[in-house]
Formats: sequence, C-alpha cells, structure tokens
Amino acid sequence: MTNHSSLANRNPPQFELSQIKSLVRELYDLEGNFTALNSERDLAWLVRNEEGPQGVIKISNAQEPEGIVDLQIKAVEHILEQDPALVVPPVIATRQGKAYEWITSDLSGDRHMIRLMAFMDGRVVEDTPEAYCDEYYYNIGVTMGRINATLQSFYHPYAGSNKHLWDLGHCLQLREMLPGLPEGELRDLLTSTLDKAEQHTLPALKKTRCQLVHQDANDANVMVSHDDPTQIAAILDFGDVAFNSILAEIVTISETYAEGEEDPIRPLLQVAQGYDSAYPLTGQEVDLLFDVMRLRLAMASLIINFRKLNDPEAGTHLEDRFFTKMLFKLNEMGQETVTRRLRDALRFPVYSPIENDGRQFSDHQDELVRHREQHLGKIWHFYDQPLNITRAQGGWMYSADGTAYLDAYNNVPQMGHCHPHITKAIARQAEALNTNTRYMCDIVADYAARLTKDLPDHLNTCIFVNSGSEANDLAVQIAQSLSGHKGGLVLDNAYHGCTELTTKYSPESWQHLPEALHPTQIERLIEPDMYNGPYADHPEAAELYSADADRAIDALASRGFKPATLMLDTAMCAHGVITPPDSYFDRVADKTRAAGGYVIADEVQAGLGRMGTFWGFMGAGLNPEKVDFITMGKPVANGHPLGVVILSSEMMKQFIGGTHPLLFSTFGGNTVACAAGMAVLDVIEREQLVQKSNDVGDQLRAGLRELAEKHSLIGDVRGRGMLVGLELVTCRQKRTPAAEETEQLIKEMIKRNVMIGKSLPGTLKIRPSLVWGKEEVDFFINAMDESLKMLG
Ligand SMILES: Cc1ncc(COP(=O)(O)O)c(C=O)c1O
Repeated sequence: MTNHSSLANRNPPQFELSQIKSLVRELYDLEGNFTALNSERDLAWLVRNEEGPQGVIKISNAQEPEGIVDLQIKAVEHILEQDPALVVPPVIATRQGKAYEWITSDLSGDRHMIRLMAFMDGRVVEDTPEAYCDEYYYNIGVTMGRINATLQSFYHPYAGSNKHLWDLGHCLQLREMLPGLPEGELRDLLTSTLDKAEQHTLPALKKTRCQLVHQDANDANVMVSHDDPTQIAAILDFGDVAFNSILAEIVTISETYAEGEEDPIRPLLQVAQGYDSAYPLTGQEVDLLFDVMRLRLAMASLIINFRKLNDPEAGTHLEDRFFTKMLFKLNEMGQETVTRRLRDALRFPVYSPIENDGRQFSDHQDELVRHREQHLGKIWHFYDQPLNITRAQGGWMYSADGTAYLDAYNNVPQMGHCHPHITKAIARQAEALNTNTRYMCDIVADYAARLTKDLPDHLNTCIFVNSGSEANDLAVQIAQSLSGHKGGLVLDNAYHGCTELTTKYSPESWQHLPEALHPTQIERLIEPDMYNGPYADHPEAAELYSADADRAIDALASRGFKPATLMLDTAMCAHGVITPPDSYFDRVADKTRAAGGYVIADEVQAGLGRMGTFWGFMGAGLNPEKVDFITMGKPVANGHPLGVVILSSEMMKQFIGGTHPLLFSTFGGNTVACAAGMAVLDVIEREQLVQKSNDVGDQLRAGLRELAEKHSLIGDVRGRGMLVGLELVTCRQKRTPAAEETEQLIKEMIKRNVMIGKSLPGTLKIRPSLVWGKEEVDFFINAMDESLKMLG
C-alpha cells in the first residue's frame, strides 16, 4: 500500500512470524527466509529459499473487504491477459488452487486474507537516484498508459468501492481540515483550490474518461531494470486501484517526481507524453491537467500539514517534502503557461476553447502579429484587429479567448468546420496509409467513381491535384494541348487561381494594371449583370450579353489567338453573386465550342450543394452536355487540400498519349485526401445538405428581404442555395453601389461576431456552411439589422 494511503485506518495485522511461516508451508508448500517489506495497512514478506526469491506473501488488513482484494487480483489478471508484456505481479494460487485464503491471527483472533504474489525482479525507483530523469518519466508514463489501456475494458462490482482519503473525487471532504491550518497564504490557496474543485474541476473530471486506474505508481511502487534505470521492470501494489478519471493516474505519477525540480511540470510533461503515446489523451483531458495537478498537490499539502499540526502521531508517516512548494510554483506558473506547454508537447493545437470562460490564453496579440510578419512577411489578413482563431465547429469559429464568431465567409468548410465524420475519415486513413496514385489503392478509384456517378457519360474520368488553381491550370493545359489553341475567355473580374496560367484567367488579379501588362491571349467578357449591368432587365439580355463572346473571339483572332477555353464560375462569386439571364451560359458555351474551344465549369465555388444543386453549373442553367471539364477545389474535401479535374476518358487518353505521358502529382489523389472527399459525399447525402442548402438559403434571403423593407441601403438580395449576394446602394433608383458603406458594414458585423465577405464594390458575398440552421440564420439577420441601424 502507498506511503500515503488511507491513514485513517492504519492498524496493520498482528501475527507472529512463526504462524505465518507455518501457514505458508501449509497453503503453498513453501519454506524459506522471510524478509518483512514496508506496508502501512497490511503485512508483507519477501520469501526466499536456496533457489532464490519465491514471491511476496501479503496479509490484508482485517478491514479490507473481500471484494476489494478480489478486485485487485482480477485487475492484474486482466492486465496480463490483455497485454502479457506488461510486468505486474500475478497471484500464485494455493495448493487448493485459490487466489487467496482466509486465516485467523493467533495473536488477535482477527480474520485476514492471505495471498502469495509472484516476485518481480528489479530495483525500486526510490533507491535508484539515476532513475529520476526525463527518459524514466516518459517510460513510466508509457507503462501506466498501457496499463490503463488494458483496464478500459475491465469491469468489477467493487471498482467503485475502493475509497480512500487521497481519492480526488472526495477532495471536498478535506475542507474540514482547513481550520486546522494557520491563517495565511497556504490556507488561502488550499481554500481557493478546493472551491475551484467544487465549481469546476470535479464536474469537469466527470467528463473525462473514468475507468479503473492504478493511481499509485509512485517511486516506492515502481521497479526499474538492474541494467538500465530508465527501463520499467515492474509495477507493484494494486492496493489503491479504483474507478477514477485517467487524469488521476497521470497526476499521481507526476506528483511523486516533482521533488527537487526547478520546473514544477517537467515530470508532468514527460509522463503525459509517454502516457499519450500508449493511450491517447483528448484535448479536453489535457486542458484539465493543470487543475487536477494543482488539486492533487493541494490535497497532499493539506492532509500532511493538517496532520503535522493536529495529529502529530499520524503526521510522522508522511512529510511535506515538496508538495506545498510545488503547489505554489505551479500556481505561480499559471494555467495558460502549463496548458500551452502540455498542448505543445502533445502536438495539440494551442489552447482552443469553445466558450468564453474568462480565461485569456492568447492575449499576446501584438506579439503574434509581429512573429507572423517576421516569418511570413506582411501578408494580408482580415480585419484591422486580426482575429486569432484557434478552433471551429459547424458554422462557428472561436478566437483564442473562446469568443464565438458566426462564419458566413468561409466557403471551404462547406459541410461545417471540422465535421466529425470527415475529420475521423482523415485520421483513420492517415493511420492506415497515405500514398499516391502510383499504387492501386481502392479508395482513389472508388472516390472517382462515386464523384462522377451522376454526371453525363462523357464526364467520367478524374485527375486529382491539390487545389483549385492546379485543377484549372491542368484543365487549360489539356484544352490547349487538344485544341492546339492558346486563347482564353473569362468573365470580367473573374478569379480562377494563382498559378502562372490561371493568373492569366483571373482578371481580378491584373485588371488594375496598365493595359500593356494584361495577358494578350485572354479576352474578358462583359458580366451578365441583371441588376446593374448595361442590359439589366432587358428582355433580350441573354442574347445581348452573350453576343460579347463573339466580340471577344474576334478580338482574340485580331491578336492571333483562337480560344482554347472558356472558364466559368457559375456561382459568379467574384462578380457580386449576380444571376445571369436564362440561357446565357449555354449561349456563351456554344459560341466557344463553335470556335474550337473547350468549356470549363469551375465548380470550386459553385459545387457540392452550395447553390442548391449538387453541381452548381447545372442549377445555373449550363447544359452538362456543353461542359468539357469540371474543376473542383475548396469544399471538395471540406478544407483538406484536394483539387479535381473531371473530363472524358477519350480526352484523357489523347492528352496522355500526346503531350503528357507522365502526368502525375505526388500529392494529388493521395489516399487521405480521397478519404476526406469520400466522407464529404457521405455527409452531403446523410444530412441532405443539398436540400438544406435550398431551404436555409431561402430563409436567409427572406430575412434579408424583410430587412430591405426598413433599410434602404439594401438594393438587391439574390443568389441560390447557400450563396447569397447582397448589393448595397446609396440610391435605390440609380442603383449606385455603396462601396464605403459595404466596408463599414463588414466592420459592424464583426463587432457583432459575424464574419462576412465582400465581392465587387457595394456587394457582399454570403457563403455560410451548409449545416446552418435557424439559430444561425436568426443570429445573422439580427446582427445585420443592428449593423445596418448603425449605418443609418
Ligand atoms: C472560382 C475559383 N476558382 C479557382 C480558385 C483557386 O482555388 P485555390 O485557391 O484552391 O487554388 C478559386 C479561389 O478562390 C476560386 O474562387
């Protein structure tokens, strides 16, 4: 039993050694020399004969319930059954085959249980000063993690009955000891720690994994190898084994070794890393470790100091060698530092709360900005006061202090931030295999088949890359190779990527530059804007707008180019989320194809249910038969890097057989990305996100249209599915874009915890994740209402 287990009941069994010897001879057919071992509540002897050590005889305290002894024996049996390489002492049966036997003391007449446990070879850590090092702390963490891993599947009716004074779960009963300590700093700290335990630590502990734990791997109960003091040889003494949080295990180990350490959490860091390697911890468990460690130290400090002052006889059993000192040190270090170091060590992201619990774990904003600029250069970020986002879930993002922001901006995590099904799929595939398309992995082909299953026959082949830009770049390369043309058609203001080729297809990136710097092989088409364009509301708008393609093709020809492609983002995200007139897309597609070019439906923004149809271009009225390439990115793996080009097998064959026999992307189509993509499709189906996109998107637009009745700044509300365009105007009649007010509105919205993005001057693009429900819509509309009021 531990050197600090239940002191309330220390009366050890009373036996003459001669009686023990004869009982052992009778029960186990064993004779030899008996050496007494340290034990407070029980009696224990090492039995040795001419063949060497034969085992340890243990006689339990008379008050020990039979069920508890049975629990201890069965726990060890279970551990050895589950992980036979673990070194824990099994019981050696009596000649009658029993794990223990009842005996009666000749001296006291009391009945006790006797058992013989196998001898474990090694050096006890407390006698091995060299063992007190990081490697040993890590290794004891590993061993106890392994032991706990086996015990997670163990049940025993007495698991909850092994109560003792040191049980974290019963810390509040120690409050009655507080008046026994002199007033002062220590008593105040102990009082506040127990108060915190009542309000926070104990309820939070119940949410961690609770199971049978050993919770006594202190330096008296661990043996290390004779040859290498960092290697664990045996874990002894299952006397404190009980149902508790697994954190109780970690802090009891770590507490023992904090003595003499300048850094109070050095052993804790190592133990936690070792433990986590064998029995992974959750972020929630890690974040509680500081409180639990402090509680454990406070309990030790309180019990020992109370006894010293109020029960000197009891106090002699334990000394406050370092508990109080460590408690103060740990407290001084503070939760932020400890949690940050633990998270760092275990490769968890920085502390990331999902509620503002008043703790400021990252108020070093200026330092963060400076650090980032130093190492990333002065790159663009959102908002004057950049947000330090540390976690996201569903439709919400959380900054380092736990403030929740409704995310109406991010178009990538379309199935909700960190969707559990998708994150699990990523982790599971990463655990099994992450490799490239040079191997015959099932998942790549399965994913490609599933992605294309509802497309027309000619769109049947996938090429996997890593981003939307790469997908578009490759589609253009293929189109150029097959058509022999070099020209390109895009809409004014469009954005299609950041590679050399796709930058050319992205006027948004160069249209502000002098004309001489515009790419000569690209021609821009006028945007088919039905609110503010030259043919807005015109009955022939489709024909008039699409006629610009004829002009563009001629303009290309005048510079010696024929169109290889027309690239279309049918979501019109960079164009103020406009809705083109019916048949516009088909008409420009026809004109391009007639001129020998290919049509690329860039689904990076529009795809996967964003616009209320699985494929955005189909909902936007572009006939799939007129589409030669579909390109995908952003939401296709809900944020995991993946880009896809879909084309016909015939075109693929021609391209590979022609100019690109070695077509390959190292990471394109890696198995983890495909698993993520597959899980995205699961989620869309299971959660019926395409339908939801329509329903919730309609609610959002309806809410905004209602606001338009009282806020004249709103000129137009448009869009489909979960893609909403909002045009702000200073004058409704003239439809004058309210560019400045749009910027202000974005700032007002973030003050109300809503992230929103702008498109063209005067227009907002609202692209929430498809998992939004009524709560999010109401929050958004309310924030918009309040923000618009501020703009007058
Ligand atoms: C329509 C469209 N296509 C392509 C891209 C480029 O995708 P990525 O940033 O993944 O390269 C974007 C990015 O915003 C986009 O909006």
